[in-house]
Order: sequence, then C-alpha cells, then structure tokens
Amino acid sequence: MVDQRAFPKGFLWGGAVAAHQLEGGYNQGGKGLSIADFYTLGDSENPRTITSTIEKNRYYPNHEAIDFYHRYPEDIKLFAEMGFECFRTSIAWARIFPKGDEKVPNEAGLQFYDDLFDECLKYGIQPVVTLSHFEMPIHLVKKYGGWRDRRLIEFFVRFAKTCFERYHTKVHYWMTFNEINNQTDYENDGALYSDSGLVPQANENREQLMYQAAHYELVASSQAVQAGHNIDPTIQIGSMIAMCPIYPLTARPEDILVAQRAMQTRLWFSDVHAKGDYPEWLCRYFKKNNFDMDITEQDLRDLRSGTVDYIGLSYYMSFAVEYTDHIDYNENEDRVSNPYVKKSEWGWQIDPIGLRYALNWLNDRYHLPLFIVENGLGAIDQKTKENRIHDYNRINYLKEHILQMKKAVLDDGIPLIGYTPWGCIDLISASTGQMSKRYGFIYVDQDDYGNGSQERFRKDSFYWYRDVIKSNGSKL
Ligand code: BG6
Repeated sequence: MVDQRAFPKGFLWGGAVAAHQLEGGYNQGGKGLSIADFYTLGDSENPRTITSTIEKNRYYPNHEAIDFYHRYPEDIKLFAEMGFECFRTSIAWARIFPKGDEKVPNEAGLQFYDDLFDECLKYGIQPVVTLSHFEMPIHLVKKYGGWRDRRLIEFFVRFAKTCFERYHTKVHYWMTFNEINNQTDYENDGALYSDSGLVPQANENREQLMYQAAHYELVASSQAVQAGHNIDPTIQIGSMIAMCPIYPLTARPEDILVAQRAMQTRLWFSDVHAKGDYPEWLCRYFKKNNFDMDITEQDLRDLRSGTVDYIGLSYYMSFAVEYTDHIDYNENEDRVSNPYVKKSEWGWQIDPIGLRYALNWLNDRYHLPLFIVENGLGAIDQKTKENRIHDYNRINYLKEHILQMKKAVLDDGIPLIGYTPWGCIDLISASTGQMSKRYGFIYVDQDDYGNGSQERFRKDSFYWYRDVIKSNGSKL
C-alpha cells in the first residue's frame, strides 16, 4: 500500500544543477576559465584527467556542456511545466570575477544571472543558489595554489558579498560550498581539486593540506554568512554536505567504533558550520599527527559568529566500514561493500532507508532545518524511435527515496524545507564527465563526446514527477 499522505504546505519541490555541468559558454560573456574547464572526459573505470593547460586534441565536456547558457528560457519553461517551485543552481565564480582576485566584478556575468533568475521568477520558481560548486577561477589555483592560501578567504567573501548585494531580493536560500566534505577522500586527486583547487606536490602531506584548505573555506563561509546577514537579515545561508551515512558492517563493537569515527571524519565540516566549533576529537587528531595548522583566534571567533541557518545535503548512497587494525578513517581504503543494498551501474550503493536515517541523524545533531538539495540515480537511458524514454529505474529510485523522506517528515517530525533531485535535466557528470550517466527528467540528445542535436525530450519520469509535485507528494 503506497503512503498517500501529502507533505506539509509550503514544502518546496524542484530540481538541482550546477553551472559548470550545464551552462557551457565557458569563454563567453567575459567569463574567466575555471577549474572545471581543465577536466577531460573519463568513465566509471578511468578518472577524468586534470590538464594544466587546455590541450588542442583533448575533449573538455564542460566547455559546451548542454548549452544552458543560451537555452535556459526553453529549459526553465520545461521546469515550470513540471511545476517546479524552486530551482537550485550555482553561480560560476569565474563569470563574476574572471580571475578571482579582482576588485571589480564583470557586469556581463552579473547580468546573466539576473536574467536567469528573472526567468525563473516569471514562473514562480524561486532560485536556490550555491556560491561555489566545484568551479573556482583557475587563476586562483595557478597563482595562489587554490585554498591552500589564506588570501582566498578575502576573494571568496568579496564574491559572496557581490552576489548577496545583487540578488538578495531574488534569492532567499543560499549555500556557500558544495559538498565541502568530499575532500575527506584526500587521496583522490579529483576530490581535492574540485572542492579546493588543490594540486598536491609529490612530497606534500595531502591530509594536512586538505584540513588546512577546509579550515580556510569554513572561515570564508562564516564570514560570508555574517556579510549576507548584514546585507539582508532575511536571507537563509546554509552549508552543503554530501551525506553518506557510514554503517558498521556488523554489530561487533570494533565495527561500531570505526563507523562512528568514520561519520565524525566525514561530518566535522558541518559540525563547524552549524555549531561554530571544532570537535574535540579532531583537535586531538591534529596534535597527534603534528599537523601544524594555521588557525587564529580571530578565525575561531568568525566560525562562532557565522554559523549557518540550515543544512543543505546531497544524498545518493550509504557507505559501510569494517574494523581491521585502526579506528582512524581513510576513505580511500576503509570502505567495504554492504551486502544488504543494491548498487547502481556506477557502483553507488542504493539505500532509500539510509535517507530517513540520515535526516534523523542530522536533526538530532544540529537542530536546524534541513534541505535535500541533491538526490537521484545516474543511469543509462535509451531513447526509442518515437522519442520516448522509459526510465522506470529512475522513477523507482526517486519514489523509494521520497517515501522514506515522507516518513522522516511526517512520522519523525524532521523540519525539511524541500527536495531538489539532482540533474533535473541531463548534464555533464561531475565525477566522470559523461553525458551517458543521466539523472534528468528531461533527456538531452547529446553523447559523451558532445555529438547530437541537444534537443530536449520529456522522459516518463517528467510526467511522474509533475504529478508528485501537483499532489504535494501524495501521488507517488
Ligand atoms: C554531487 C555533486 O557529488 O553529485 C554534483 O554535487 C554531481 O555536482 C552529483 O554531479 C552526481 O555525481 P556524478 O558524478 O554522477 O555527476
């Protein structure tokens, strides 16, 4: 029997994307190059390569993406047809400050987002905006080494203030850094690069480098929150974390302990965002490892004064860990496969119940409103001769997750603001650069190499999600 209860009035339904994964126009309107412009195409077996220059004979999928930069009126019209009440996107930092360290913003970039937000508002769709979603200006990487340099705090806060001042009447919900905690996987080049613009040297301590960069980002976030509230006390500024609950593989106490430490290691970022303090275990961990961190008294004051208004989260999967001989968590080595859940074609562990667990866990810990700003299934879709896309797997995935979200809200009392499934229109995958890893309700006729008409088609999930929104979640 399907749960036919509706969500509370005012619950926000929509969809989510990020600028670099759909806009294209990578060198138009005065935009500077960003880190995403140096990412080649990969696949589930082969990671994307980060090149130091743009090489002539290589393919960079984010350069053209799905050309939302030119086609956004048509795409937003389709979102409106589905009944979206909000639309989460990001502002490409390099459109506003092409190099990142200038004092004066690029007016053409600012105007682009004015036009985009106006187009959304025309249909009653409120924009939800992430300031930094895996795409800082490349100049900040080349000149300063990315977030290893404290000066980036000043540059980011200037960017944030510029956006708050310009758009605060159009955008109510903001987030500072997308999935800031992905870099927990500090042995992964892509995670360090996309979160923090870090390209580690061979002899560098990657873990310490990550903690230092994350500290500067958290300080920047807290200063941005303070600045945003000074500009307009009504706007809501949140964190954004990748919420992957980490289970113990068994009930063995050692497994429970490593799972707890793994959760602490993935989520200390939101502890600092929400509570304004570093957790005790982490301060000890820095000492134990002789990490000589640049954390000033003023930083600590800022962290306390700029705590977030809500927690934005992505939820795709859960992880599991098993005790071997240590409790400190190394994400690259310590994860194990969970025999109780299925996996997507890209190996992501599908776990709808984990979403209810995650929402309860976050609520107990932070007592702040929560906003699911990403969730979805990356899968291969087939377009029939009649231009139909029967994406039942995606519908099932979303249905199962919405059902658990409903239990969390209606049975557990979780204060959830809304739900924006990821990649509401097919776009470039962040981890692989593929188009064929599709998440959308709207199919884009384009292959992994950018071939195709770029024409948009409504998938079966498009009509299904339209009904979900119309019924406020009662019809699934
Ligand atoms: C999140 C990111 O990690 O997951 C998105 O915020 C990303 O940018 C999404 O696209 C899905 O991941 P992928 O690698 O399948 O695109």
